[in-house]
Amino acid sequence: MGGEDETHRLRAGSFGAVAEEYGRLRPAPCDEAVEWLVPKDSGTVLDLAAGAGTLTALLAERVPDVVAVEPDDRMRAVLAARRPDVRALRGTAEAIPLTDGRVDAVVVSSAWHWFDAARAVTEIARVLRPGGTLGVVWNGMDSSVPWVAEWQARVRPETAGTRGEQRRQWFHDRGARLREDIASAGPLFGEVEQASFSCVRAVAPADLAALLGTYSRVILLPEEERRQLIARAEELLRERLPQGEEVLDVPFRSLCWRVTRL
Ligand SMILES: C[S@@+](CC[C@H](N)C(=O)[O-])C[C@H]1O[C@@H](n2cnc3c(N)ncnc32)[C@H](O)[C@@H]1O
Repeated sequence: MGGEDETHRLRAGSFGAVAEEYGRLRPAPCDEAVEWLVPKDSGTVLDLAAGAGTLTALLAERVPDVVAVEPDDRMRAVLAARRPDVRALRGTAEAIPLTDGRVDAVVVSSAWHWFDAARAVTEIARVLRPGGTLGVVWNGMDSSVPWVAEWQARVRPETAGTRGEQRRQWFHDRGARLREDIASAGPLFGEVEQASFSCVRAVAPADLAALLGTYSRVILLPEEERRQLIARAEELLRERLPQGEEVLDVPFRSLCWRVTRL
């Protein structure tokens, strides 16, 4: 296995180490994005790579039957404590523990890039009923907003001046890759649609700074470096806090793709 593959494997499996913080801090996709990704009449929805249940909790309020699949035991434990009413199964995108045609919709939030996409597309097609939908979303702070880009660049100076552009490119590449992944599986799915949604959430500086610590690159930093990065991030955010306020209005963006199983 090459160095890049090993890094990918380490990052994909890194989240359990911060499962509690992940569940507490990671914002769910914008509400409108969830509406767009999950058809209204869905009976059973699979939250694939459900993590600590951030999206699962929103789905459970909208549809009668939600199944969560997540490989990491620590992430699944946080999810189960948060939503004991949801069936949480151990499994991966490449080996989904459900029978054929079992679900009306599959949703993947901020996780597609960790999958072996060719195998995942075939597995997702297997568990979806004909006419069911696959929705894929990446959710994050909106770095097209100048203060966000500036903050991110100051926290990680090595990316100064390029961060917003890199982010745009990252999403463009993700979309292109996703289309290729889906097309390469053969005539299993229809046309891929794309949409983007924005929302603003009130977040305390300490929580927004700690949120950085739930991303795989930061999880895997040496402990002291990670601590310093988060402390610096919080200090910079406090400078932005309006007099007398305890929270910042933080812009988020959810980039979404959806496709129908033929
Ligand atoms: C960035 S988290 C996203 C969690 C959740 N969907 C959310 O939006 O908060 C990525 C998740 O993908 C899981 N994961 C990694 N590789 C996976 C795979 N091959 N199949 C399914 N899940 C995987 C990780 O354990 C982790 O919980």
